[in-house]
Amino acid sequence: MSKPKVLVNRDDIPTAGLDLLRTKCKLTILPGSNSTREEILRAIPGHDGFYFFGHVNVNTDFLDIAGPSLKVISTISAGFDHLDVPEIKRRGIKVGHTPIVLNAAVAEIAVMLLLNAARRAHESRSLLERGKVEAKPQWLLGQDIRGSTVGIVGLGMIGLAIANRLVPFEVGRFLYTGHAPKKSADEIGAEFVSLDDLLELSDFVIVATPLTIETHGLFDDAAFDKMKKTAVFINIGRGAVVKTDALLRALKEKKIFAAGLDVVDPEPLPKDHELLTLPNLEIVPHIGSATIKTRRDMAIVAAQNITNALEGKPLVYPL
Ligand code: DGY
Repeated sequence: MSKPKVLVNRDDIPTAGLDLLRTKCKLTILPGSNSTREEILRAIPGHDGFYFFGHVNVNTDFLDIAGPSLKVISTISAGFDHLDVPEIKRRGIKVGHTPIVLNAAVAEIAVMLLLNAARRAHESRSLLERGKVEAKPQWLLGQDIRGSTVGIVGLGMIGLAIANRLVPFEVGRFLYTGHAPKKSADEIGAEFVSLDDLLELSDFVIVATPLTIETHGLFDDAAFDKMKKTAVFINIGRGAVVKTDALLRALKEKKIFAAGLDVVDPEPLPKDHELLTLPNLEIVPHIGSATIKTRRDMAIVAAQNITNALEGKPLVYPL
């Protein structure tokens, strides 16, 4: 029997994932790492599976062009805002993602951004490089984590992993908001509050929520106006949860103390974007899950999602 055919959108995916797929599937790997949507759409008809890294928008058009052979879609990411999941499932196509294996790596980036933003790492380095160091007792003062109130918007597994990593810093109080209180919050003694209360009370506001219709643009001018002037804002969720112009104003006008971003809207942020000129912004280009082990694990789990689906077994992480 011939092996099922799987389209891979790029050739730079960790080999452990590709090797696993090759044991059971025939792969069409698009060369390089910059295949356009058109190239993917030209290649997809006749394939049983689509295995990909990056935010390829799998919507009705994509599925129409892919045609009836497509049985499984596997994104090498935890987030799935680029997939029209209801439509994919309506067509009887299996769809999987790669949560959990990246929780620790993303939580580490969140803590890194929080520490750097609170202690003005980027600004310090820049002043040092420009020979502007001043030995004054009130120079480059930052915000303390010890005794602070940390508010988490979206206490899912990543939110919880971040909170657990902050416990040893002697946080005074954890708050969280979301749809409903969660049992897992007891682990860190976090209190469920409204978004408004969280914004008003928190010294650190951490966004760890996925992008949905409800969270799109949640952080606007009004949200930043409610936050403390000393607050540090962190986003490791999705860029579009925040209105970028509102964040820019909040940082420029010192409505808040600082921000730390792994994600931003748009991505990548243009290199001449005004945000990149601000001393009170720590920013990295969406590298939350970018560790060698994590990306390898993600590639493997996504490959297992494909092989399981094609063998009629449950996906490891179905959507
Ligand atoms: C994900 O997997 O969704 C993270 O944002 C890393 O890309």
